[in-house]
Amino acid sequence: MNNNIINGKLLADKILQEASITIQQLHSAKKRLPALAVVVVGENPASEIYVRNKKNACTKVGIKSIEYALPEDATEYGLLNLIAELNHDKNIDGILVQLPLPPHLDSKLVINAINPIKDVDGFHRYNIGSLTVQDPSICPCTPHGIIHMLDSINFEYSGKNAVVIGTSNIVGRPMALELLNRGATVTMCNNKTINLPQYTILADLIVIAIGQPKFLKKEWIKENCVVIDVGINRLSDNTICGDTDFDDIVDKVSYITPVPGGVGPMTIAILIKNTLECYNLHTL
Ligand code: GUN
Repeated sequence: MNNNIINGKLLADKILQEASITIQQLHSAKKRLPALAVVVVGENPASEIYVRNKKNACTKVGIKSIEYALPEDATEYGLLNLIAELNHDKNIDGILVQLPLPPHLDSKLVINAINPIKDVDGFHRYNIGSLTVQDPSICPCTPHGIIHMLDSINFEYSGKNAVVIGTSNIVGRPMALELLNRGATVTMCNNKTINLPQYTILADLIVIAIGQPKFLKKEWIKENCVVIDVGINRLSDNTICGDTDFDDIVDKVSYITPVPGGVGPMTIAILIKNTLECYNLHTL
């Protein structure tokens, strides 16, 4: 058994337990309990699993979650109206619109319609802008969960070479900002990067989020680097694997995150933490 595997499930359970205690205290003090609105448009199998896991975590800690399931052909007007209602609802602390939205809906417009202090995903331009100018408020869940994982192994960010592979608004970009804000030298790569190994071979830390099974290879990485694998890919035999060839590289790295049981549970734990943060912002 390798002891260089960062157990995301264990770290996430600790965060959920802390949240649960906070909510029990609110309950004992007869305070209003936090509530999260989860908006889903259409039917997307992956989204359905993510949403179910998020709602289960809410139930586990005592957060009320209310799902708004809109049909695939929901109009932008209808969705914006719902968000406006939720923004004004004093009993709703957080609003999560599950992405991706069907192509006829403008996700930027929709996300930016959420009141930033209810934006549990941290995707609103106000929250991303705050992170950009080193004045973070609500931070995107997956990158922030990764920071928790790196802190748990006492990773020293300052001066380190960090390579982020994948440039999405959900993971890659906010991840780069989190690392930049902690003093790392950050290189962002994507699936068009020419000669990717010339970057990864110099990296002390690699965060990969491109959705390509077993993409990162042993020959591309430096001995004792840290690898954070955000990918969740289903193979033809129905098994789940990450974006790294885990078995191939586990003995070369100083630390690595497994899939499943790594970044996934941490994303959900931070969502719960963010919901409590929104509750505090909203009830100030
Ligand atoms: N789709 C994939 N990841 C996420 C996430 O973290 N939040 C939302 N809202 N949608 C997603």
